Amino acid sequence: MFAVTAAKASPEDPLAALRLGDHPDPAPPDGWVTVTVKAASLNHHDVWTLRGVGISADRLPIVLGCDAAGVDEDGNEVIVHAVLGEGAGRGGDETLDPSRSLLSERYDGTFAEKVAVPRGNLVPKPAGLSFEQAACLPTAYLTAYRMLFAKSGLEPGATVLVQGAGGGVATALILLGRAGGYRVWVTSRSEEKRARALELGADQAFASGSRLPERVDAVMETVGQATWAHSLRALRPGGRIVASGATSGAAPPAELNRVFFLQLSVVGSTMGSRDQLSRLATFLEQTVVRPRIDRSLPLAQARNGFAAMSSGDLFGKVVFTR
Ligand SMILES: NC(=O)c1ccc[n+]([C@@H]2O[C@H](COP(=O)([O-])OP(=O)(O)OC[C@H]3O[C@@H](n4cnc5c(N)ncnc54)[C@H](OP(=O)(O)O)[C@@H]3O)[C@@H](O)[C@H]2O)c1
Repeated sequence: MFAVTAAKASPEDPLAALRLGDHPDPAPPDGWVTVTVKAASLNHHDVWTLRGVGISADRLPIVLGCDAAGVDEDGNEVIVHAVLGEGAGRGGDETLDPSRSLLSERYDGTFAEKVAVPRGNLVPKPAGLSFEQAACLPTAYLTAYRMLFAKSGLEPGATVLVQGAGGGVATALILLGRAGGYRVWVTSRSEEKRARALELGADQAFASGSRLPERVDAVMETVGQATWAHSLRALRPGGRIVASGATSGAAPPAELNRVFFLQLSVVGSTMGSRDQLSRLATFLEQTVVRPRIDRSLPLAQARNGFAAMSSGDLFGKVVFTR
């Protein structure tokens, strides 16, 4: 089958590790099913894999892609949950399984004609979502959903700051946060992305690092080092940073004096459970919220999407179709 794979680790030039071409068909073990992929979405995770972050050389080559929507062997339209793990005994949360993995880490991912996953990882696709829209949900939108509605500790009407407005998770935070009744403020390095964030529903948009008119209840962090100091300064006393990514670097100064003196919380968040993915699908079905897609490309043109993500030239999700 045709597939997009990571062939090697290439820390400085991730696109040099990208291969497009033939790959063996999936051979699903007992209890697994094969899904015919109709659409798959790109995440920064795929760029990290090309750089060799979070994967060991003995796993390569591996098919990239965490997210997909497609059709199962019985003809049902499905969304593929990206987390492979055991939720039993962990409150149904497979992300807490120490041996969990995401598709494309241990098992081949979704940038292919077909992908094999455990049967329990399939979630029905709502009829009101296209395959392209549904393919955005399993990583970026699920991560944003958990950050906002499970980890932030906020009630509707609270103010959240989203750092780095243009990213896949960030645009999901804007759309879901607004629909959930939060006041959503955003930062971006780009004036054009700030304007687009306002069009998407953000209440106010600020240049990265600039002073805010008042302090916020929570900050949603995926940028990391470049925005961390600003995130700490943006919070009201007792406020909370929910962190799920560190695109610009993972080791900023902790500024512990600020953390304890202002009694701030720093909470980590990763992906979400299958049940949360199912509730997220229902949330979209119940609202007018639809994922913001920057561009949709045939899988054979995947290199174009990777290049745009590597250079930060995106506003929303990149989707590959078949
Ligand atoms: N823990 C999890 O489960 C999980 C799930 C999904 C994603 N993540 C992580 O979250 C991060 C974002 O993922 P994504 O797929 O949304 O990536 P993405 O679409 O590539 O988003 C990157 C965004 O980060 C901002 N940014 C990048 N470098 C920056 C810098 N030096 N200074 C300021 N802002 C910068 C940019 O915002 P502006 O250009 O608007 O300033 C850009 O829009 C990645 O690190 C990813 O690995 C983690």
